[in-house]
Amino acid sequence: EATRKKSEELLITYQGVFYPSLCSAETFQALDMMEVRKDDVFLVAYPKSGTNWVKKILNDLTASLQKEAPTLEQHMMLEFGKPEKFQKIKDSSSPRVFYTHLHYDNIPKSVFEKKAKIVVVFRNPKDTAVSYYHFYNNNPVLPTMSSWDEFFQKFISGEVCWSSYFDHALAWNRHIDDENILIITYEELKENLYEGVKKIAEFLGLTLPEEKMQSIAENATFQSMSSKSAETHGKFGPIIFRKGVVQDWKTLFTEAQSQEMDAKFEECLAGTKLGAVLKYDIYC
Ligand code: A3P
Repeated sequence: EATRKKSEELLITYQGVFYPSLCSAETFQALDMMEVRKDDVFLVAYPKSGTNWVKKILNDLTASLQKEAPTLEQHMMLEFGKPEKFQKIKDSSSPRVFYTHLHYDNIPKSVFEKKAKIVVVFRNPKDTAVSYYHFYNNNPVLPTMSSWDEFFQKFISGEVCWSSYFDHALAWNRHIDDENILIITYEELKENLYEGVKKIAEFLGLTLPEEKMQSIAENATFQSMSSKSAETHGKFGPIIFRKGVVQDWKTLFTEAQSQEMDAKFEECLAGTKLGAVLKYDIYC
């Protein structure tokens, strides 16, 4: 197990991108054929950007509208599991909430054609990298990185699962004004969780009593979610709910790495709309 864990054998490659072996070519193919509904909600986030956080908010916001609770298959990331799971998802109550780390180009085209609502989460790349590094090293389904320096280089060059942060950001930047897309940042949720919940509710066209939204926000604080993480996420609980702060990058980045990331950001995103949304100058 220890030697296996160190090796990249743990990963699969699909269309040139690394994924954990919870993914398979068969599931990707089945996903492409998935029947999308107009009232589906898709949460799209690069790994470690706050996926589980926004998933909880979306699930709580939509819970009262669903006739039946979402199935286990629906709680699984879109690209994980067996292809047969899409059969079960077919019967789930609307509005169905799905979540994925996939790059824009790998999301089924029908999601855009049906004009389903898409909530996209971004987190500043420095904190994302640090969170991802710890995740790689604590998660048995991902290879172990021998050092932060090794991981940093892999992150910058996009040789990590779900590929390059910057490719994801560039793709969403091209679609930032498309219909039915809401871009929300980890940092704005940290800044004001209630406002974030309200913004998501408005985007979904939901009118909920203020107390309801307050309680959704209270149940989505880091403290609340991490204290229940063993129940909600089993052994992955403490791995996912690690620290939940902004600017933890300062604990690991060297000055040279910080400058390298700044240069990469400048090259890819400076002057773009998404670049402005990320408030890189403030958080990085
Ligand atoms: P850290 O590793 O920096 O602590 P994902 O869900 O995309 O895997 O992201 C996990 C990151 O989001 C972790 O970051 C985790 O602590 C943080 N996170 C999860 N829930 C959170 C919450 N309710 N508030 C703040 N951060 C949260």
